[in-house]
Amino acid sequence: MITKETIEKVLDAARIEEVVGDFVDLKKRGTSLIGNCPFHNEKTPSFHVSVAKGIYKCFGCGAGGDSLKFVMELEKYSYPEAIRYLADKYSIGIEEVQRSPAQLAAQDKRESLYVLSAWAGKFFKEQLWDTPGGQAIGLSYFKERGYREDIIKKFDLGYSPDQWTALSDAAIASGFHKDYLKEVGLSIERDDASIYDRFRGRVIFPIHNLTGRIIGFGGRTLKTEKSVPKYVNSPESEIYHKSDVLYGLNFAKKAIMDKDTCYLVEGYADVISMHQAGVENVVSSSGTSLTSGQIRLIARFTKNVVILYDGDAAGIKASLRGTDMLLEEGLNVKVLLFPDGNDPDSYVQRYGSSAFKEYIDAHQEDFIFYKTNILLKDTGGDPIKRADVIREVVQSIALIPDEIKVSVFLQQCSRLLDIEERVLLTELNKMRLQRAKAQDKKDAAASRPMSMDMPSPDMPPADFFLTDAERSDIGLPPAEAPLVITSEILQEREIVRILLNYGADLATWEGDGDIPVAPLLLHAMDDIVFEDRPSAFIIDVFRKKAEDFEIPEAKFFFSHEDKEVQDLAITCVSSPYELSPNWNDDKRKIFVKEERAHLKTLTIQAVYRIKKRKIEREMFKIREELKSGAPDVDMEILLSKYQKLKEAEKLLGSFLGNIIVK
Ligand code: CTP
Ligand code: MN
Repeated sequence: MITKETIEKVLDAARIEEVVGDFVDLKKRGTSLIGNCPFHNEKTPSFHVSVAKGIYKCFGCGAGGDSLKFVMELEKYSYPEAIRYLADKYSIGIEEVQRSPAQLAAQDKRESLYVLSAWAGKFFKEQLWDTPGGQAIGLSYFKERGYREDIIKKFDLGYSPDQWTALSDAAIASGFHKDYLKEVGLSIERDDASIYDRFRGRVIFPIHNLTGRIIGFGGRTLKTEKSVPKYVNSPESEIYHKSDVLYGLNFAKKAIMDKDTCYLVEGYADVISMHQAGVENVVSSSGTSLTSGQIRLIARFTKNVVILYDGDAAGIKASLRGTDMLLEEGLNVKVLLFPDGNDPDSYVQRYGSSAFKEYIDAHQEDFIFYKTNILLKDTGGDPIKRADVIREVVQSIALIPDEIKVSVFLQQCSRLLDIEERVLLTELNKMRLQRAKAQDKKDAAASRPMSMDMPSPDMPPADFFLTDAERSDIGLPPAEAPLVITSEILQEREIVRILLNYGADLATWEGDGDIPVAPLLLHAMDDIVFEDRPSAFIIDVFRKKAEDFEIPEAKFFFSHEDKEVQDLAITCVSSPYELSPNWNDDKRKIFVKEERAHLKTLTIQAVYRIKKRKIEREMFKIREELKSGAPDVDMEILLSKYQKLKEAEKLLGSFLGNIIVK
């Protein structure tokens, strides 16, 4: 187990902008950094990072948390995995408490699969570098292909010996469980329950996730027979979801952001050769057609994609396919073809790095024009075929969300196709109409259409802890009816919000001098039982800490294991005052200043409101009891109770009235 001290060190060192920045292209806006949310699909950024608070919050999908939660959610890490990742990022040594065998056994399955994959990666590497067979067959193969040693090492390339059970035996001997070997697909089970290696006599390309952990392998045969499949790949597993993985992205992400362009190639070999040539902003879809998950992955880092394909007929077709999805995501798509059946790998190896770079700089062509020209070539002047071309081209243009780009493309394609722009526009509008109709049908079929779930980033966030009156006070429209949130819950959450935001601030109390808000509030709330579960939890922590004169910080709750507690804490400190894009800097400053200047009012008001409410409820209960006329009801006692409550209510009411007027 990782020690508490290490965890604290890691959490202290983690800077939210750096942790998130490894995955999201962040730009400064106002007091926060913004970018496209990695947790949902979006074209305009609604993902905010507050450096000061150390948290992120997406106003589109509601995701939010601190550095730790970010990597846990994004990489699907467990708590210890996430700590390890951050420790590694900040070069913090991990101290561990010795684990018991029981703890070892309980270690979570995903982590075991990662550990096994890492182990296998090392096994293949050692085979490549340290065994006569690996050197003679695998290493010499890579070298013949022109790969430098540093590149072979960087990509963790390896070799699987041409034996049936070399890896399986070694893994079992190292204590790995057969089930896990099967799960990640390194071993395959026969009918008699014995296992054998999936990768035999192949050079190995490990596949890494975004954080650089090995999650699968591709193995290339060294044989030339057509009957042998060229590549054998790891199957899908709990840690390897092919549709969400791009080969090379972990090595490429920095360069993609720096260059604001991503080269998309077909194979492992292309990625590796391009790195060797010094072009590092490159990823591969590994021979399959692009998935929307992969496209979203790219879109997190850049909006500009250049597709590099072989110049053969299959390569050209491949470049036309899958591209519509890129356009739909609002990406700018260019295409680049290599001459004479070369692919990026063979071009680099044949002509060298600088010729390669010159070539790719000079031959990028916008996808729409490229498609138009390719299709036009095939028509041979046939008017019917030409009409098809026009339709196909307009279809692609119609997918582009940016109107300005659309009109530029229409203009230029009208020239290329030698047809009036007006005709193209009519065609385009027809298509859009059809698409809108189809979409309407889809939306109607789904119970809650996506578009309604995602408020535009310029809308205020759903700040569920404000009442409508409070919202109108600060100029927000009434909230949409929250489904299960009652006004009592809102009042409790308001207390929590004050504690989390201003708990340690000093409130000036006549006669008392300066006292922090937290003890004052807690003292005043002594008799209140909180009903909202996460609020009750947070209040409880505050109460316990108060015994030692401590005031917990909000961040204490940001990565709390209870998701509701976590969400409440994050929402309380983030919206709408800090992170909402709608709150420009000045407004925000004014609001925070105003709230800070009236801490006393804010506090008293919150306390009295909640008390008044509870009293009202008590009174209601008594009235019901009186009305019920049950024989065991002691009218006198009830009535006197009622009277006392009524007085208290009046008192509170006038108090509240005074404060609010003031
Ligand atoms: N691929 C695959 N299975 C195959 C063939 C190809 O999974 N039988 C995938 C691999 O990810 C490969 C990519 O498709 O990297 C592109 O195929 P190809 O261009 O044939 O492979 P290269 O990586 O270019 O390999 P090489 O240059 O060694 O032929
Ligand atoms: Mn190739």
